[in-house]
Amino acid sequence: MAFDYGSFVKGKGNTSMNNFTFYSPTYFVFGKDTEMEAGHYVKRFGGSKVLLHYGGGSVVRSGLLDRVKESLKKENIKFAELGGVQPNPRSGLVYKGIDLCRKEGVDFILAVGGGSSIDSAKAIAAGVKYDGDFWDFYEGKPITEALPIGTVLTIAAAGSEGSGDSVITKEEGMLKRGTGGEALRPVFSILNPALTQTLPAYQTAAGATDIMAHVFERYFTNTKEVEITDRLCEAVLLTMVKEVPRVIIDPNNYEARANIMWAGMVAHNNLVGVGRSQDWASHGIEHELSALYDVAHGAGLAVIFPAWMAYVYKYNINRFAQIAVRVWGCQMNFENPEVTALEGIERLKQFLTSIGMPINFRELGAKEEDIPAMVEKLGLGENGTIGSFVPLTSKDVEQIYRLAL
Ligand code: NZQ
Ligand code: ZN
Repeated sequence: MAFDYGSFVKGKGNTSMNNFTFYSPTYFVFGKDTEMEAGHYVKRFGGSKVLLHYGGGSVVRSGLLDRVKESLKKENIKFAELGGVQPNPRSGLVYKGIDLCRKEGVDFILAVGGGSSIDSAKAIAAGVKYDGDFWDFYEGKPITEALPIGTVLTIAAAGSEGSGDSVITKEEGMLKRGTGGEALRPVFSILNPALTQTLPAYQTAAGATDIMAHVFERYFTNTKEVEITDRLCEAVLLTMVKEVPRVIIDPNNYEARANIMWAGMVAHNNLVGVGRSQDWASHGIEHELSALYDVAHGAGLAVIFPAWMAYVYKYNINRFAQIAVRVWGCQMNFENPEVTALEGIERLKQFLTSIGMPINFRELGAKEEDIPAMVEKLGLGENGTIGSFVPLTSKDVEQIYRLAL
């Protein structure tokens, strides 16, 4: 099955502003030391026995996990623990988590970490309430029920803290697939930008690339007359262009970290995408890279997005010229807008390189000989397509991988 980012992705093509619903009920708690309020918010949202779910150890080393435990104890909230979530989280730990929650009578899941811990928490939350195999949800079964989820975010990247999405990799065949549903939106998310100051520069940059990619997926649309959404997208991108270089130079720059952290949420709770078709081909194409090579999702996107842009820009040169002028500060070439469009793509590549991201297969450590297998695993078959800005067939996807070599 092809990657599906949920129903909001599908648009009606060449129309003007579409009807939409927008519901983003997460309670955000933003700022310094806010992790100390985790217990308070668990209680407020009805949790009495919590599963603390986290990754490979960064939250233990930083002391964050201890602070969160302290805040739970202060509110007399009991908890069980399950660490060990890997980046590109795996189904094996999800099954463990579901068993543990049932055994311990857990009624609330608190993810402490990044998109991987949050996505794994979401999978467990849906799985606990379901008699069948949780993987069914990642093969298209709608999610109607889940345990409530809270998050304490440690990396600005995936936007899972405000989204109803979850992406999990099944070890068997290394299938990386996404699901979505309103029941998966966290009831609260705690965002303390200072927690991101311990991130290695590479992870900061990969996260920033993912944030920008979430905007690109929504910016490249065929729906006309959605000016407000265009402008919101540009605001997020301009913020990233300004702030990311500042944190690469000075990882402790709280103000820049704060702007990036909020941009990560705004970029992916769908505020910058409503009312129009969205693309999402690049995410699907990237997920095969991070599934096969276990690379950071954002680094994979740094390789795929410029190649996707180079492949599709001719279908709507004006849109690419618009982003070049408004975000990358290029001069509009009215005689030949294609020149401006291409300059914008070049500026994006320069930006990604400047923050330490790979922009081709070689730099990422990916191999040309794996391309046919990745195309096959994407599952488009003979006649399927991915993306809506320009629907792409398997042959197109292969060309994009080759452009990224
Ligand atoms: O595991 P630990 O030890 O915590 O280390 C993590 C991990 O190695 C480390 N890290 C996180 N915060 C840190 C830190 N290290 C030091 N200090 C900190 N403050 O960073 C590494 C990456 O963490 P991860 O959670 O994997 O990052 P990210 O938030 O980028 O999540 C990536 C996953 O999210 C999915 C991706 O496909 C990928 O699997 N996505 C989820 C989406 C969603 N649910 O809405 C949308 C996205 O498009 C994306 O597909
Ligand atoms: Zn992403």
